Amino acid sequence: MKNNILTRITTCSLIISSFYLNAQKTILELDASRTITKIQPTMFGLFFEDINFAADGGLYAELIKNRSFEFDKPLMGWQEPNTKRSSLNKESGSAAPVKVQADNTVFCRVEINNAQGYALINEGFRGMGVKKDAKYNLSLKAANHNSAIKKIIFQLIDKEQKVIGETSIVPKSDQWTHYTAVITATQTQGKAKLKITFQGTGTIDLDMISLFPQDTWKNRKNGLRKDLVQLLYDMKPGFLRFPGGCIVEGRTLSDRYQWKKSVGNLEQRKTMINRWNVEFNHKQTPDYFQSFGLGFFEYFQLSEDIGAEPLPILSCGMACQYNTGELASINELDPYVQDALDLIEFANGALTTTWGKIRSEAGHPEPFNLKYIGVGNEQWGPDYIERYKVFEKAIKAKYPNIIIVSGSGPSPDGEHFDFAMQELKKLNAELVDEHYYKSPQWFRENAGRYDNYDRKGPKIFAGEYAAQSVSGANPNNRNNWECAFSEAAFITGLERNAEVVHLTSYAPLMAHEDAWQWTPDMIWFNNLESYGSANYYVQQLFSTNKGTDLLSITKEGKPLTGQNSLYASAVKNVHKKEVIIKLVNTAPAAQEINIDLKGAKLGSKGSIVRLASPGREDENTFSDPKKITPKQSEYTITKGNQQLNLPAYSLTVLKLKIVR
Ligand code: AHR
Repeated sequence: MKNNILTRITTCSLIISSFYLNAQKTILELDASRTITKIQPTMFGLFFEDINFAADGGLYAELIKNRSFEFDKPLMGWQEPNTKRSSLNKESGSAAPVKVQADNTVFCRVEINNAQGYALINEGFRGMGVKKDAKYNLSLKAANHNSAIKKIIFQLIDKEQKVIGETSIVPKSDQWTHYTAVITATQTQGKAKLKITFQGTGTIDLDMISLFPQDTWKNRKNGLRKDLVQLLYDMKPGFLRFPGGCIVEGRTLSDRYQWKKSVGNLEQRKTMINRWNVEFNHKQTPDYFQSFGLGFFEYFQLSEDIGAEPLPILSCGMACQYNTGELASINELDPYVQDALDLIEFANGALTTTWGKIRSEAGHPEPFNLKYIGVGNEQWGPDYIERYKVFEKAIKAKYPNIIIVSGSGPSPDGEHFDFAMQELKKLNAELVDEHYYKSPQWFRENAGRYDNYDRKGPKIFAGEYAAQSVSGANPNNRNNWECAFSEAAFITGLERNAEVVHLTSYAPLMAHEDAWQWTPDMIWFNNLESYGSANYYVQQLFSTNKGTDLLSITKEGKPLTGQNSLYASAVKNVHKKEVIIKLVNTAPAAQEINIDLKGAKLGSKGSIVRLASPGREDENTFSDPKKITPKQSEYTITKGNQQLNLPAYSLTVLKLKIVR
């Protein structure tokens, strides 16, 4: 028995030492003189979809939910604590939706019977985040019947109903009039509400009740949440894909995303259901609607602000095939195709054109310089190919230089994928969007996915991907370190294949802590705070170190795709005169490597940026948002091979200065 144990221990230590031996022998060959291809500036970008309260309740900084009373239930999000609707007790007063027949919009008619008792309270998006001493712009429209109401008082209240900020307006006119005021918050509170009370008795109509922080991204009035845009900006993204995702398609064709309804005057942007509201039984959010306050103009502006190429994706006349799969027949496709042509005019057209003029009136006379347009999201089957052809013909006829993104369905393999790829190749498609929501293991095992892709075939847009710790779209998925380092391993494969892969983006981008439907997500936020997941920092390290020229890094002449659990890619930045090497060690033990770098004379100093964590389950959280973040240190360049220790479960970016 004892012998047996001894044998086992010896065998075990033999395995470990041979593992280290192998690891110590890892020598990588790197040729810095030979550029394989130029890295596309779009290589690492962002996928934005209004899922998980990413737009309303997230990036779009409006604090009032259902500001225009246009939700299916017009008073959703609004409470009247002193009105007993069931017994029609209107002692204090009541609010009722009124529909304007002409344009089918709704406003709220408030009847005050007892001014002391009546209050209307907006609950915000799972509360409102307000910060001590910060100022908030309040605005609304009101029509004061017979000038009966003398004053409207607006109060920010905390969970205990304590007032933490107040302002008022005097509604002077019985005609619809726009009023503004400012509230200063006296406390920081993530779950504040807005309480509205009245002086006087009588009837008043209210609409577009809005509250925005003054402190927005670029201080734009009624703009975007600063901390969230900052996280996007810090990624230095090459492109911004919007508005999705399945939201583009809709569950039915009538609830597809129609960009024309998202531009122009805010009041005319008609609120619509968000398709993610009751999609999943595990996370029902029936109060999820789209106000389109963050619409296509704002998406283009955001792209410009963060230095990203705008990449809009449009409906191709097919509703989500996971839902109804409703189809617009080929002879009904004209309005869909026209939407695409008009969008290009909106983005790039002269001021003399219909849509160029609308862009200019919105505040951007210069063109947005749109280069890409996506036809459909993740459609599949012959119906898609048939519709894609119609779009392609019309777009290329009018705008031959616009690059069209086509889709290959929801999976990176299987019947639908193979069919789409085969057909799109025949059509010489320019850029094909691939999606993969797979296990961390899949990501590690598929780092060589593009090694054999045809260099002359369509270019690839890895448009939606994320490692799923449990399974696809499972509510228990975590943004854990194993997922993130497995994605890093896979991304070395994307980078190594930059000849074929021109754009990549993690998905989804953002999630509200209390209102998400889909996990994992790259950025998490609540009403006050936000943080980047470990996956965010993986993306950021690749994106901010993408370089200009792809180099070859190999072991015994072969790319590193998981031998000894190691992965690598290398680029050169010709402007900064740097060789940048990304190394991923997915093993539970540290490894020593040597890099035999030829073709460049190196300076004496370099730097290492490292992302590592001891536990595969580790993750960033609201209470420890910086647990897994990049740490930078100096690297001394040696004569001969460059030596490096790669910690267990780590992504290392090694930057070496080139002298010549
Ligand atoms: O990213 C979430 C969803 O996953 C997207 O909307 C869709 O394109 C994919 O199925």
